[in-house]
Amino acid sequence: MAYTSNLLQEMADMWSASPESLLNLHLFIAIFIFSIFIAYTLVPKPKNLNLPAGPKPLPIIGNVHQMLNQRPIQVMHKWHQDYGTMVSFRYGQQLAISVGSFDIAQDLLAKRGAIYSSRPEFIIASGMTSGFNSAIMPYSRRWQNQHRIMSSVLDSSAVNRYRGLEDMESKQTLVELLSTDDFEASIRRYAGSIVMTLGYGIRLEGTDNEIPAKLLEINAHPFDAIGNSYYRVMELFPILDKLPGFLAPWKQFAADVERQTTEFHMKHFEIGKAASTWNWAQNALHSNAGSRISSKELAYVIGTLQQAGFEAILTVLRLIIKAIVLHPHCLAEAQRELDRVVGPDRLPSFEDIPHLPYINAMLNEAMRWQPPTPFGIPHATTEDDEYMGYHIPSGTVIIPNIWVMSFNPEIFPDPDEFKPERWIQNPELEHSPFGFGRRICPGRHLGWNSIFILMARLMWAYNITHAYKDGKRIEIDPWAIKLTFTAATVPFMASFQVRSPKKQEIIERDWENVCKDPAQILEQIRPKEEVWG
Ligand code: HEM
Repeated sequence: MAYTSNLLQEMADMWSASPESLLNLHLFIAIFIFSIFIAYTLVPKPKNLNLPAGPKPLPIIGNVHQMLNQRPIQVMHKWHQDYGTMVSFRYGQQLAISVGSFDIAQDLLAKRGAIYSSRPEFIIASGMTSGFNSAIMPYSRRWQNQHRIMSSVLDSSAVNRYRGLEDMESKQTLVELLSTDDFEASIRRYAGSIVMTLGYGIRLEGTDNEIPAKLLEINAHPFDAIGNSYYRVMELFPILDKLPGFLAPWKQFAADVERQTTEFHMKHFEIGKAASTWNWAQNALHSNAGSRISSKELAYVIGTLQQAGFEAILTVLRLIIKAIVLHPHCLAEAQRELDRVVGPDRLPSFEDIPHLPYINAMLNEAMRWQPPTPFGIPHATTEDDEYMGYHIPSGTVIIPNIWVMSFNPEIFPDPDEFKPERWIQNPELEHSPFGFGRRICPGRHLGWNSIFILMARLMWAYNITHAYKDGKRIEIDPWAIKLTFTAATVPFMASFQVRSPKKQEIIERDWENVCKDPAQILEQIRPKEEVWG
């Protein structure tokens, strides 16, 4: 079977080809098969519950085999077409329900949030982050405590104070693109500088700074651990985690990732603590919630915001730029709106945002067209529940299937097409790229604002088109997406031509005049009253 050989290949790649390690690989496979036998004998067989329909599971592995060789988004999409809006399947013995309707996701994850707000166990990803990454932690006192600290720096009133920083950073991005088309480096710097300045007072002045690459590197491993088939099979049999290190190379690997991640977060946390100005690290230290936890855990609270915030902002910016290059008529429409509302004499400002409905629609449509987190982050139930005649047991994994919701042709006709106007024609359309209920993304206001202001300014200033090499247009595959548990557009090339000499002058003048000193900007951000969380 192809998926078995793929899996064994992935496992074999983890070991080098020395005779000793091959012996270990054989021993590991023997223990693996033995574990399957034990699991089959000992684990209680799933009871006949009244569950939503779904594909027939195999003993022990459930439906995992159906997802190893194909993109899970396609497999699940097909399941929803075959079985309806709610689909039950098994991940090993673990029951999961994929929800393909916004309304049902709201009913369960928001209205019944008291029992739908935990997370499944992510053993390896959690090990890679010391068990301190709040995004994958079960609903618990620890999560509540960390969430309080995060909310105090990310609620809408806090985020409104960050406009000065976003203003300055977006002006730098505009000026950078006057002399280069390397927008990827510019948006990496932009996303990284916003979260690192807020987090620790560390501004990324140049695109050559190594922090964005390091953030991508430390993110890649836990994302992979949630999305990669090799790790997923390990997680089906937690007993394998008890194997000694020489038989379980992923443990050493996870420990190395944990060490690097801890070092990265602790180093910056110390800088943030010592800084003379306000920042998230200091806010966390002074909070009641922060005083109850260790320094390492606090470093992870701020570090998790760096990891989640940096990559999300970067991914969405890249996605929107791709949508613009592929749909020049949308850029033309946005520029007509900008020319009408803002005019030629100044950059778009935060005050303009409510008057730019087409750009608002473009952002919504980009996150609908290719949702950055196709399955959100799965939730888990903590009590038995009844819903629409179904019995949903405690411990069920609930997947808010944002991908399936986004491609429902009854709600979004021609779902494969990028059509911002659907949001203008029907302002009641609902979609939630930021998730649901108590676990909804705490960084959504920061993410939205920093993406909106930069995109409005870029479209005001530039024509953004395909890049050319040797006179030939460089094509972009709209569906070239790297899927881990996020769906990230693969980096591509584009060309940025400033729309007029006058606009160039404004970009240069505004950059020259803006305050670039992070200490001064953070002083402006410091809350007038002490709001520590
Ligand atoms: C800009 C686009 C962003 C998108 C599309 C996005 C999307 C999401 C989604 C779908 C979830 C899971 C929600 C759920 O479980 O129902 C999530 C969780 C989270 N996001 Fe975001 N996010 C974005 C920006 C940010 C930013 C800027 C930050 C931080 C500065 C951030 C921090 C987090 C954290 C900490 C969680 C975990 C919440 C929890 O488990 O309690 N995100 N995000």
